[in-house]
Amino acid sequence: MIWLDSAATSFRKPAEVRRAVWRAMECLSSPGRGGYTSAMEAAELLFEARCEIGDMFGAASPEKVVFTSSATHSLNIAVKSLVGRGDKVVVSGYEHNAVVRPLHAIGADVRTASSPLFDPEAAIEAFRRELPGAKAAVCCHVSNVFGYVLPLDEIATACREEGIPLIVDASQSAGVLPLDMEALGCAFLAMPGHKGLLGPQGTGVLLCAGEDAAPILEGGTGSESESPDMPLFLPDRLEAGTHNMPGIAGLLAGVRWIKKQGLAAIREKEKRLRRVLCRELRQTEGVTLYEATEDDLQTGVLSLSLSGMDCETAADQLGKRGIAVRAGLHCAPLAHRTAGTFESGTVRMSVSPFTTEREVLTAAADIRLIAANGSLV
Ligand code: ALA
Repeated sequence: MIWLDSAATSFRKPAEVRRAVWRAMECLSSPGRGGYTSAMEAAELLFEARCEIGDMFGAASPEKVVFTSSATHSLNIAVKSLVGRGDKVVVSGYEHNAVVRPLHAIGADVRTASSPLFDPEAAIEAFRRELPGAKAAVCCHVSNVFGYVLPLDEIATACREEGIPLIVDASQSAGVLPLDMEALGCAFLAMPGHKGLLGPQGTGVLLCAGEDAAPILEGGTGSESESPDMPLFLPDRLEAGTHNMPGIAGLLAGVRWIKKQGLAAIREKEKRLRRVLCRELRQTEGVTLYEATEDDLQTGVLSLSLSGMDCETAADQLGKRGIAVRAGLHCAPLAHRTAGTFESGTVRMSVSPFTTEREVLTAAADIRLIAANGSLV
């Protein structure tokens, strides 16, 4: 299988991640629920994971690192902590349904800071225009559809200047681009554990700037058990129920693996592979690439469309040849509306630290064949 769907999940994991999951299943029970060895070891690993992740993303303290089941879970907590019915909220034109749907369910007054694809100046301008009077702002760091790196530092500055709390969706940048919560001054930083951080599915993280986060799940925390209320302190306030220890152990191993490789090396490799894909497909008749003119504005995610063929058909054909890509709206209809691809969707290819040049060359050759012949057979 040639895995070019890393924006959806990291299908290939470092061996260290698999070993950590296995070991956790053999040795770790529930942290904070007992003084016996397996519970104490679990508590230690949980704290180590908070420290490593907090250090990587500039959390104020390990306690501000909250484990969730996904970025969607993290974003729901963040959005529901800050936004109520009728509140004005500013979002970028590239947000995922993990942001759009909770806001819609709340009944928020959502304003889109809409700006053309790969135009950071326009994005900053759009946020500055929309921010006054907003209760909160939400911005993804990187578009899951186009790999577009939004001008997060400038958007965060604009939010700070207006005194508006910012929620950052780092679903496509955690483990690829540097991120420092303290420097950004954002209220919440949400991310999955299973994409760029290379952990198992079912893991997510929410970094909180303050203590004032509202749980969306109540239950046992192993602390203040005499009270019917959730504890007020983090991380317990947001971590009801038994922790996903195999998942968190695997996530910790993934984070350590990334730190060892170095973010810059991962980022450069992924960008180089995306450049190879662009080079191979740029001159192909019938193929439209959504490619940034400036290299730093795009990660290892590339969307394309094929004239005369719907994107699902193309992705199915690639799938039959063992090439995994994602087609359609990628759970981000807003991004497609912004980019003008809402009607057609796109075929999306996304690389990982394990993708090879040979793999992207094979995929590009097959896409050229589809564009030329309408099929691969
Ligand atoms: N949000 C994930 C994607 O972009 C699942 O595919």
